[in-house]
Amino acid sequence: MFVPQILVKSEEIFEPELHISQYDRAREISKYLLMHYGELDDVFERAGHPLAAAHGYPRRLSELLRESARTTGTRVRTALDVGCNVGGVSHALSTWVEDRVVGVDISRRSIEVAKALSVGGGGVFSIVQQGPFTKDVEVRLPYPESCARVEFEVGDGADLESVEGSFDAVLLSNVVDRVADPELCLRQFGASERTLRSGGLLMIACPWSWYPEYSAPESWLGSARDATPSEEAVKALLASDFDLVTEVDEACVLRQNPREYDYFEAHVTVWRKH
Ligand SMILES: C[S@@+](CC[C@H](N)C(=O)[O-])C[C@H]1O[C@@H](n2cnc3c(N)ncnc32)[C@H](O)[C@@H]1O
Repeated sequence: MFVPQILVKSEEIFEPELHISQYDRAREISKYLLMHYGELDDVFERAGHPLAAAHGYPRRLSELLRESARTTGTRVRTALDVGCNVGGVSHALSTWVEDRVVGVDISRRSIEVAKALSVGGGGVFSIVQQGPFTKDVEVRLPYPESCARVEFEVGDGADLESVEGSFDAVLLSNVVDRVADPELCLRQFGASERTLRSGGLLMIACPWSWYPEYSAPESWLGSARDATPSEEAVKALLASDFDLVTEVDEACVLRQNPREYDYFEAHVTVWRKH
């Protein structure tokens, strides 16, 4: 029986939580829960919203990786979702990855919520309306007949030594511009077979939204360092160990409140390791 568990309470949403890191805050968790699991009418309060096409990003990303696996003839038994947050992409991957999907994030609370959702099959959380007002959203995991088992663990995406297994596919969604050393983070996938096997797929989705709060400007891929855009810098970084399979833009929307949305287009590349 589905017993909805409370994942984010209304009273937590407006607590300042200044001592807590960004992705552990209740308000942030609530936004990502909505983005990863919310239905179209949970995200937008009216039909025909101009941003409606950006809904469903986790599923679209997963399908793009699936299509890349199909076109390259890559068997994907295991997949790793780095910076998985509350796990929507991991669950979407579990519908077609054969055996095991692992989601890793440095945010302890994101991982706790991802695990709670997996165990309970869904949950209830509050989202911001306006001022002190919130409303509750109930979600269920939309993939009851998953192929792969899904595991979540707290970990540093820039140092994945502790994560067991060499994966068939590794996905980093909106996280390369959030780690302290983006180049080091990406190099670990080409450097050895430890995390990504030879012949495996690497998917990088990123709006290249750089902030000095997350990484020093000297370490940003492209721009300040070598006057090339990030889209080209990431290709130069990976070219020696990988072949580029596909390159597209994927729209995504993060709801702040019913009148304010963050819209972005992630630059998505899929790579096959030599
Ligand atoms: C912008 S969110 C993206 C979440 C999710 N991948 C998505 O696309 O919706 C960035 C995520 O990266 C995580 N993160 C930041 N630095 C990390 C690191 N060094 N290792 C693992 N996760 C990290 C954050 O905790 C957060 O969950």
